Amino acid sequence: MRRADCVAFLRHLLPRLGLCWAGYRRVHRTVCKRLARRLRELGLADPAGYARRLDEDPGERERLEAMLRIPISRFWRDASVWEWLGEIGLPGLAQAARASGRNRLSAWSCGCAAGEEPYGLALLWHRRLAPRFPGTALDILATDADPVLLARAREARYAPSSLRALPADLRRGFLEEEGRPRLPPAIRAAVRFRRQDVRAAMPEGPFDLLLCRNLVFTYFAQDLRCEMAARFRRRLRVGGLMVLGAKERLPDRVEGFVPVTAGLPVYRRRS
Ligand SMILES: C[S@@+](CC[C@H](N)C(=O)[O-])C[C@H]1O[C@@H](n2cnc3c(N)ncnc32)[C@H](O)[C@@H]1O
Repeated sequence: MRRADCVAFLRHLLPRLGLCWAGYRRVHRTVCKRLARRLRELGLADPAGYARRLDEDPGERERLEAMLRIPISRFWRDASVWEWLGEIGLPGLAQAARASGRNRLSAWSCGCAAGEEPYGLALLWHRRLAPRFPGTALDILATDADPVLLARAREARYAPSSLRALPADLRRGFLEEEGRPRLPPAIRAAVRFRRQDVRAAMPEGPFDLLLCRNLVFTYFAQDLRCEMAARFRRRLRVGGLMVLGAKERLPDRVEGFVPVTAGLPVYRRRS
């Protein structure tokens, strides 16, 4: 399949799936390689034949969804957001919880890939913040649509390159097993993983913190972003924080959130 044919196919297909070409532009080569391989497996010459196959075979739609998932992640991705969370965001949430008589904070990592994001949060809490807030616990729920990534997340073994951006005190939270960094049982137990397609279902909450980075506000179409943001809002406590990816912003027409600080993609539920 020629690259131009793949691009034309994606531009036609993505909006029909509630996704957007602008989000996929940067990663389309990866998706095109996967599609080309699938066309070869099926003995199809061009995307038109594949489009017919999609109409005829509901199982193929699931395969396509998997080919469209981008699994890229790493620990401490967008360091400035993590530093802000550690110094201001999480302490503020813990103090607010305490002031209202709660001894548990609740966080949701939506689109958690192989666990780098929720485990990064668990490390930050347990190694830096828990000693400052004894008696307060942080529950972390992590969801993703991809069963292979979730199985890797539960294993919690990582390539050393994935830890490169982590500050040294948090990197010391890993064990060395068979030459590879692995998280210890206490950190593994701090995160619950669940397979969930965010378009079909969401955990109920309420959450104090929602990490939704490099998924909805990059790959989803505008209308779906707005619909998702409204549903996220209902799952956040008033005063709770929603963190997006470094290059992501909430659409203007989304209501009920205020940006917390200029230059960071962090929003607080205002009402
Ligand atoms: C680019 S990764 C982002 C990982 C992490 N949040 C980060 O920013 O480093 C996007 C993740 O979203 C997951 N994903 C894609 N579509 C999804 C959907 N509809 N529902 C839930 N997860 C989805 C993918 O499997 C992938 O793990």
